[in-house]
Amino acid sequence: MYSSLCARLQSFPRVWLVTGVAGFIGSNLLETLLRLDQRVVGLDNFATGHQRNLDEVRSLLTPEQWTRFEFIHGDVCRIDDCRRAVAPAGQAVDYVLHQAALGSVPRSIADPVATNQANVAGFLNMLVAARDAGVKGFVYAASSSTYGDHPALPKVEDVIGKPLSPYAVTKLVNELYAEVFARCYGFETVGLRYFNVFGPRQDPNGAYAAVIPRWVSSMIQGEAVFINGDGETSRDFCFVANAVQANLLAATTTDAAARNQVYNVAVGERTSLNELYAHIRDVLAERIPSLRDVRPEHRDFRVGDVRHSLADIDKAKRLLGYTPTHHVQEGLHVAMDWYRRFLTSDPSVNGGT
Ligand SMILES: NC(=O)c1ccc[n+]([C@@H]2O[C@H](COP(=O)([O-])OP(=O)(O)OC[C@H]3O[C@@H](n4cnc5c(N)ncnc54)[C@H](O)[C@@H]3O)[C@@H](O)[C@H]2O)c1
Repeated sequence: MYSSLCARLQSFPRVWLVTGVAGFIGSNLLETLLRLDQRVVGLDNFATGHQRNLDEVRSLLTPEQWTRFEFIHGDVCRIDDCRRAVAPAGQAVDYVLHQAALGSVPRSIADPVATNQANVAGFLNMLVAARDAGVKGFVYAASSSTYGDHPALPKVEDVIGKPLSPYAVTKLVNELYAEVFARCYGFETVGLRYFNVFGPRQDPNGAYAAVIPRWVSSMIQGEAVFINGDGETSRDFCFVANAVQANLLAATTTDAAARNQVYNVAVGERTSLNELYAHIRDVLAERIPSLRDVRPEHRDFRVGDVRHSLADIDKAKRLLGYTPTHHVQEGLHVAMDWYRRFLTSDPSVNGGT
């Protein structure tokens, strides 16, 4: 299904808006879309994204593919920036992939106001701008954090608990607004509840780095790796190519039953932090043998974290034709090659924007 969609897109190019395009998932969407000869408008304010991600995508493409990209330096918190991005030359883009947000549970606990502005006010602006422009498809980054304190495993889309962090509140509110826009204005969207996405260009730097890039970076630089809690906390780690696939399928679906829905985007496999540590160390040790015997240090559990997370991905399979191409270990191999190149290249590049 996905390969035939890619072939179709290549024959009939469309215009896409990717918000958060300079970030991790956004830049991977950009790379795939440009490789498929699509036209892409990208919006970002570089809050957590980087020019270097755009530069890297450019280096991977032909000059002709890159000419199909237009970047708008703007903020989703400003409705005029959103309106300009959804209709860059006065004509609506076909599809919006809304990724721009402030991620990270701890960041939202430290500064709930900033997270709310980008994730809720910014989301509402994008919805209004896309509705008014009349785009054909609107897909947004939802989150597995919406399952909150509900203990059931695996996570099935309509059984959610209470949010455990300000970040989780913002992602739940996105879903509520999306539903209400369908009801009040007939504007249908698709929400993708990502489960711990990882892969090339996920930022290893800063206080709010995600677990995989943080650990890889520490191991390569010979620093201690900390596991919060006993290490039996588990997640459904999802390689970024799977998330890209879900976005393209969701945006272009013509099945009425598949729209106005939220979907889990994951692999449907659970990996504990202790297992993840061992996988990363083993994959890195194939490239850096001195890492073979490194050991992690355990410290306290982190406030706001859920204990276990595992997705039921049947709904996305059934309604979107989603079939994850990468399991955790395959994804880790690809990601490790990228991190090794990134972290061992010029340090001024790694610390820069
Ligand atoms: N990575 C994951 O595991 C994961 C899991 C669940 C949900 N998500 C969601 O997926 C989306 C993408 O996440 P990511 O991991 O690529 O994060 P990221 O931080 O790499 O990318 C987010 C991008 O949005 C941009 N941005 C932030 N605020 C903005 C604003 N006000 N205006 C314009 N641009 C703004 C940032 O500069 C950045 O480039 C986010 O909505 C995030 O909440 C990610």
